[in-house]
Amino acid sequence: MAPQFLLNFQLVLLLLLMGQQNMGYKMPHVNIEIFNERGLKISIPDEARMQRVFVMLQVDDSCPVFMDCLTQATNGSWTSVQRIRLQNDDKLRVSLFVQYNNNIYEKSETHVILNTRFLTTQQSNTVNIWRSKAPETLDNSNENKCQLYRTLDRRLFKDCKPTNSITSRNSGSQVTCQGELIFEDDFSEGQLNSSVWMHDIRQRMYYVEEELVAFDDSPRISYVREGHLHIVPMVASEVTEGVYKLGDRCTAVDNRQLECSISKGSFFKINPPVYSAQLHTRESFSFKYGKVVVRAKLPKGDWLFPYMMLQPVSTYAETHFANQLRIAYARGNEFLRSSQQDDISGHRLYGGIVIWQKGDAVEILKNRLHTKHYGDDFHNYTMIWQRDKLTLLVDDEIYGEIYDGLPFFNEKCFIIFGVTVGGFLNFNDSILLTDVKPYKNKQPRAALSFWENRGTWVSTWTNSSAMIVDYVRVYAD
Ligand SMILES: *[C@@H]1O[C@H](CO)[C@@H](O)[C@H](O)[C@H]1NC(C)=O
Ligand SMILES: *[C@@H]1O[C@H](CO)[C@@H](O)[C@H](O)[C@H]1NC(C)=O
Ligand SMILES: *[C@@H]1O[C@H](CO)[C@@H](O)[C@H](O)[C@H]1NC(C)=O
Ligand SMILES: *[C@@H]1O[C@H](CO)[C@@H](O)[C@H](O)[C@H]1NC(C)=O
Ligand SMILES: *[C@@H]1O[C@H](CO)[C@@H](O)[C@H](O)[C@H]1NC(C)=O
Repeated sequence: MAPQFLLNFQLVLLLLLMGQQNMGYKMPHVNIEIFNERGLKISIPDEARMQRVFVMLQVDDSCPVFMDCLTQATNGSWTSVQRIRLQNDDKLRVSLFVQYNNNIYEKSETHVILNTRFLTTQQSNTVNIWRSKAPETLDNSNENKCQLYRTLDRRLFKDCKPTNSITSRNSGSQVTCQGELIFEDDFSEGQLNSSVWMHDIRQRMYYVEEELVAFDDSPRISYVREGHLHIVPMVASEVTEGVYKLGDRCTAVDNRQLECSISKGSFFKINPPVYSAQLHTRESFSFKYGKVVVRAKLPKGDWLFPYMMLQPVSTYAETHFANQLRIAYARGNEFLRSSQQDDISGHRLYGGIVIWQKGDAVEILKNRLHTKHYGDDFHNYTMIWQRDKLTLLVDDEIYGEIYDGLPFFNEKCFIIFGVTVGGFLNFNDSILLTDVKPYKNKQPRAALSFWENRGTWVSTWTNSSAMIVDYVRVYAD
């Protein structure tokens, strides 16, 4: 009798112990939905004893880019909303880590996107990956957050390292992990966000860099429409009359006297033949090392030239001869040959480094020739800026790697977008056939000559002469 009782007692104890273990946590169905077309909403229902939820999203096996740490449930569920645009055939891996009763449980799911639906292709069980011994080590300070993510899932992070990027937004509440989105503007707000973008306002038509424009902030020239930033260079209707005076609006820094006004009747001086715009993030966002992706359509038209670049924060957008990291450019001309017969029209894309030394440029560029003009379509232009290497991509294809010149960029840089006309480096007379340009660089008459010969170029400026930016994104590296 007694042994039987003992056995039963042991069995009950064993069952009780097992029950104790099973009293862990089983993660419920993870609800994923496309939210507002551009976002993704991931949620699980709340339960007593849930303390924290970490969400990690990985698209197509890239490093985790999207991470979220939720510290409380709202309306009965733990919900993370991420700005992420998914397309058909994207593979989305969702990993959730739930801190429950001081333990951490993991569950991962893989989905393939098909017509905005999520087809689940893989699903793990709930796994207890951290048992509470010292729950206080799970602190959520910023310094520990990246490290914690890494500890939580080494498999996901096996190819990831802590970021090398430094950003102007590394403020108290923000954590930067490698691959994390640190800046984005997709121009979806209906108007330009003036706390992000500032205008460069001044005229450029004199011997220093000899661009044949004035940059201004008129909403006719630069504006946001249908989710895109447009910079539309405009030909003046008349240039010889009147006086050009910007006054306090002028943002010139190097030579205010020449750049902020044009006095009437001075030697060969005319009002600007073209008005255009240049915008920058110097006051709002700068970063050192990272990946910048711009989806844009470049301007098309003779002597147009796009600026899509990074410049050190120790300079202003308006600084002459500032060193530049050129994300990408292609000249506006449909046809343009160098004196060596190289095609240097808008069919050739360039990216890389420009370093100015005593008014002369040292260019370290890579290029790629295309059958079509780069202004014919949108392309994804990417520059990966690392301490010792610059990688240039267009539409996810690498067309150049640069190892020299990077020590000149040993500081945070800000983003510049602009469209100009001419420029003595952009259309360097010494590499062009003589007389293809309707003006000569560095001559006092350059702007006047350009204007007087407008019959040769004005007809090439069409509704494709704008630079149109769909989005710009910067990821920590
Ligand atoms: C929670 O639910 C209430 C009532 O349904 C709703 O008004 C509120 O917006 C919800 N809050 C959130 C954060 O979803
Ligand atoms: C403008 O940008 C700032 C800084 O990124 C942001 O806080 C704000 O919400 C933006 N405004 C609009 C209207 O999008
Ligand atoms: C123009 O090209 C010539 C020849 O390659 C070069 O010596 C000169 O420095 C270039 N001009 C500028 C402004 O860089
Ligand atoms: C550029 O990126 C967008 C998504 O942002 C994508 O839809 C498009 O296919 C990409 N284009 C190319 C040519 O890679
Ligand atoms: C640009 O102009 C061409 C020819 O005039 C026209 O067919 C096309 O629809 C225009 N495109 C836009 C985006 O306005």
